[in-house]
Amino acid sequence: MIDKLRVLEQNSIQRGIPILGSEKGAWLLSIVQKHKPQRILELGTANGYSGIILGSGGARIVTVDINIVLATEANYNFAQFRIDAEIRLEDGVEYVQHVVKEKKEQFDLIFIDFAKKKYFPVLKNCIKLLKDNGILIADNITMEGCQNFREAVLHHPQLQTEIINIKDGLSYSIKRHL
Ligand SMILES: C[S@@+](CC[C@H](N)C(=O)[O-])C[C@H]1O[C@@H](n2cnc3c(N)ncnc32)[C@H](O)[C@@H]1O
Repeated sequence: MIDKLRVLEQNSIQRGIPILGSEKGAWLLSIVQKHKPQRILELGTANGYSGIILGSGGARIVTVDINIVLATEANYNFAQFRIDAEIRLEDGVEYVQHVVKEKKEQFDLIFIDFAKKKYFPVLKNCIKLLKDNGILIADNITMEGCQNFREAVLHHPQLQTEIINIKDGLSYSIKRHL
């Protein structure tokens, strides 16, 4: 799977699109293969690179981005890789608020990879949207802007969290039933 994404990876790097990349991508793929999530929410679609990995096991993904150009590319890339994805063109913070309010559904896995300062504001709602034993992953966890998110996931009573030290890091949390 990661090898099949080499062209998209190289093309994205050349164009300065900040995708997950193959090293973190291989780790994410191992999580998908181990836990087999069926319903996935992604905040930050870009051109679909990480979404293809998330959906490679046949899961249904809802993925949110504000950039129409990238979302259009993602739509094409998802079709190429036969990924079952619904792209929502809206603000990620507002989207999770809406889903919580509507009590529409819960997810097996949520992947956060959008504006770093928005990580903390979505945390409470993302925990609500996760099923028990669901997985919360956030990318670029050592980057400026998401320190408060990192501290919160490390100390949250409902989360069991570890930091994955690949490049600028990811947080990996499991939601426990209180
Ligand atoms: C790091 S990129 C996502 C990379 C993608 N997850 C991947 O690895 O292939 C971050 C994306 O978040 C989007 N974004 C930024 N602020 C956002 C917001 N408030 N709501 C939704 N998406 C946002 C940007 O348009 C950008 O495409």
